[in-house]
Amino acid sequence: MRIMKAVCFVVVVMVMSCYGYKTNSHKGSYTLKLENANYGEIRSMFMKIKGTGQGMEEHQENFSAFAASLTDPKTLGAGQIVKFNKVWTNINNDYHPSTGVYTAPITGVYQFACSVMTPYSKTLRVFLWKNNTETVAIYPGDSGHNMGTLNMILELKKGDKVYIKQGRGEKHIYSQSSSNFSMFSGYLIR
Ligand SMILES: *[C@@H]1O[C@H](CO)[C@@H](O)[C@H](O)[C@H]1NC(C)=O
Ligand SMILES: *[C@@H]1O[C@H](CO)[C@@H](O)[C@H](O)[C@H]1NC(C)=O
Ligand SMILES: *[C@@H]1O[C@H](CO)[C@@H](O)[C@H](O)[C@H]1NC(C)=O
Repeated sequence: MRIMKAVCFVVVVMVMSCYGYKTNSHKGSYTLKLENANYGEIRSMFMKIKGTGQGMEEHQENFSAFAASLTDPKTLGAGQIVKFNKVWTNINNDYHPSTGVYTAPITGVYQFACSVMTPYSKTLRVFLWKNNTETVAIYPGDSGHNMGTLNMILELKKGDKVYIKQGRGEKHIYSQSSSNFSMFSGYLIR
């Protein structure tokens, strides 16, 4: 199937470059160079699709990415995991909005980001957890609405769990279904 696609692509590009040759025949050497470049690209693309198993379709099988936001403000319980309930992206379904937990599908390097907002004059402290370990925290202050963000890269083993969890004394998180101020996302880098 992939070979068929590649062959079709080669044919289409050959037709296109013949057309180019016709219409630009007065610019002889320029056209010739362009054609050589095209054939080089086509050949390397063909080799990639045919040989290495690194074509786009196969890469997708091992890809994982998610992003979710919160639709309502909440007063969190002590040590409660934040359940970002509005899912925007969930490739490979490794994030579970019912628990707020992301589970690494394979061993690899992952990036996670979280932004949270506080209700007016209230505070919040949340941590990014990796299994049973606190990693980094966000602690937006208490005058007016405040935003805090974290951006983390973690090496995970297959089955490791990553989530945002309330910590210490500050429990108030703000969001709205119309503005999605608080969110959590992550993806497999490699
Ligand atoms: C996908 O992951 C599995 C398990 O880690 C591995 O055996 C396989 O080679 C990977 N496939 C690709 C295309 O990377
Ligand atoms: C993390 O937790 C998962 C599920 O409980 C477990 O399978 C995995 O071995 C743990 N990883 C580490 C590094 O402790
Ligand atoms: C927030 O998400 C809702 C869907 O749940 C969407 O209608 C709205 O436009 C989003 N707001 C912003 C500011 O993107």
